[in-house]
Amino acid sequence: MNRTLIAAGNWKMHKTIGEASAYAEAFLARMREFQGLEVVICPPFTALPVLRDQFYQTPVRLGAQNVHWEIQGAFTGEISAPMLQELGCRYVIVGHSERRHIFRETSEEVGWKVKTLCSFHLSPILCVGETLSEREAGKTREVVQEQLLQGVAHLTPEEAQSLVIAYEPVWAIGTGRASTPQDAEEVIRFIREELASRFGQEVASGIRILYGGSVAPENVFDFVVQENIDGTLVGGASLDPGKFLKIVEETERAFLRKSGGA
Ligand code: 13P
Repeated sequence: MNRTLIAAGNWKMHKTIGEASAYAEAFLARMREFQGLEVVICPPFTALPVLRDQFYQTPVRLGAQNVHWEIQGAFTGEISAPMLQELGCRYVIVGHSERRHIFRETSEEVGWKVKTLCSFHLSPILCVGETLSEREAGKTREVVQEQLLQGVAHLTPEEAQSLVIAYEPVWAIGTGRASTPQDAEEVIRFIREELASRFGQEVASGIRILYGGSVAPENVFDFVVQENIDGTLVGGASLDPGKFLKIVEETERAFLRKSGGA
């Protein structure tokens, strides 16, 4: 199964509108068509309108970093799926470890968010991953399985086709200490097997599964060249347009290698 790869940048709480706009200008100046992959940028909500305009009719797609599961109502400070759709988003990150740990989001809430996104034809980027102590206690699979199965609990196999999963081990996020590509491949293969038991082999083999955690231009190729890894979700290194472009180029190189070329 040939899956379109993804190079996604999660800017987290970085960049004002002005900074985002300057980034887009620098990025687009060096952008070209890339084979076999999608480029996605997930800025803060406030930068979505300006980036939608700047990325209009370019290959760069927009994503958001969070959403509420209800469509509207008395939820001060929250943002809904139709609001994100209107802003030109194709993707929405949900269940990021920072939301789970700092803001105490539960897997059950994440599951409702995923369901709502699918009903608005927005693709969820569902993040899962274990902490260092969970890994050391040998609980990686158990933790990842719980987050994954609750995250997709309400989806039909048809809705699951638009899912993207990001495996982000918490200990690798922002630490400069990435997983090894082999360890990431092993967990990601396990995720694909779990998706196959839940939605069937055919649907599972079409779902993109990304790796995230200290991805850099120097290591991205080694991750994406793995059989089950379909791209990366990049934090720190996506904040610099030159570095992120290099990550995109390396992802294309991995695509060409995987599809039997160079
Ligand atoms: P870093 O790439 O900075 O480690 O962050 C990863 C991440 O959390 C992406 O969502």
